[in-house]
Amino acid sequence: MILVTGGAGFIGSHTCIALAQAGLPFLMLDNFSNSRCSVLERMGRIIGAVPVCIEGDVRDAALLAQLLAQYPINAVIHFAALKAVGQSVATPLRYYENNVAGTITLLQAMQQAQVRTLVFSSSATVYGEPATLPIGEDFPLSATNPYGWSKLMMEQVLADVDAAEPGQWHIARLRYFNPVGAHESGLVGEDPQDVPGNLLPYVAQVAAGQRSCLSIYGNDYPTPDGTGVRDYIHVADLAQGHLAALRYLRQHPGLLTVNLGTGRPVSVLEMVHSFERASGRSIPYQIVGRRPGDVAQCWANPSLAQQLLGWKAQHGIDRMCQDAWRWQNGEARSVA
Ligand code: NAD
Ligand code: WQD
Repeated sequence: MILVTGGAGFIGSHTCIALAQAGLPFLMLDNFSNSRCSVLERMGRIIGAVPVCIEGDVRDAALLAQLLAQYPINAVIHFAALKAVGQSVATPLRYYENNVAGTITLLQAMQQAQVRTLVFSSSATVYGEPATLPIGEDFPLSATNPYGWSKLMMEQVLADVDAAEPGQWHIARLRYFNPVGAHESGLVGEDPQDVPGNLLPYVAQVAAGQRSCLSIYGNDYPTPDGTGVRDYIHVADLAQGHLAALRYLRQHPGLLTVNLGTGRPVSVLEMVHSFERASGRSIPYQIVGRRPGDVAQCWANPSLAQQLLGWKAQHGIDRMCQDAWRWQNGEARSVA
């Protein structure tokens, strides 16, 4: 059985659906700090049964020990973290405590219970401003905010844990690029609790009429149309990447570090136009100044994931926007 921390969140919920559809039993653990328990019932409509989710915190060592003793858990996928870059600058201690201390508590509990297989959610943010593109796993690492530092610190903790007990651990550090989209059913998707900081959820709310206008942060970058360029990846592809990593780890002890991206550069304006096609709505936007800390361009070389995991992203941006729109407009959710 696989323990999925943060399983009720955006990427966690899609990965749990993929686990269920692959016939892999799992147990979710989430404190619902950035998700709602209503997702469980909607996941149940897709996979045929409401999944079991323990409401609790990864920083709760006693709870982790109890779960690892009570259930036949042999691997952990660790999504639970706080992820808002701006908030991390304002409340760094909260971020380090939740993300770094939470991961250490989890690793201690796993070590104690002799469970040594872990898939960890890292991020392309660990590459900072890349000198060249596309980004390979061997590129220099850096961070510009506490969220990014927390990911770098956790990556280091995992490398040190692996080095201290060579051949004992099976650890994957998956560096996601920009996860977007939603489940094709329209029943599960990204559910921001505050004003969305990320592009696609904001665009979706503008298309739905919940916000009047998108602010595009700069059109003077050295990119083909001047707006920022990213590697958007469909969350369903990302979910499959976790299954591929688990399969790989079963055969390979040690530390695996791979990019999960499409390798396709996409600008803000291309994304806006794709969402307009998907929704049939126009997306009013204004160009404003650059957002502090933004990099001009960031996209992956995803070939290592293909080579080692046999994994490759399948969906393009139009599909990402169509699925995000189906989730945003909520029709599927209202049909019981
Ligand atoms: P999310 O906020 O939707 O999901 C995270 C889940 O973890 C939430 O359900 C939240 O309630 C839960 N959680 C947070 N702290 C917890 C704790 N201490 N104990 C138990 N549960 C806790 O975020 P997401 O987009 O699904 O991201 C999942 C992981 O992927 C995170 O580690 C994030 O840093 C990483 N990541 C996300 C992105 C992205 O853009 N979405 C990009 C790269 C990496
Ligand atoms: C994408 C592009 C913006 C909003 C962030 C985190 C990163 C990772 C993913 C977790 C950029 C532009 C955005 C808006 C805009 N998270 N934009 N108007 O910045 O690549 O990455 O999320 O690990 O750590 O930093 O993603 O979606 O915020 O921005 O013009 O209202 O859209 O400037 O070019 P980003 P994003």
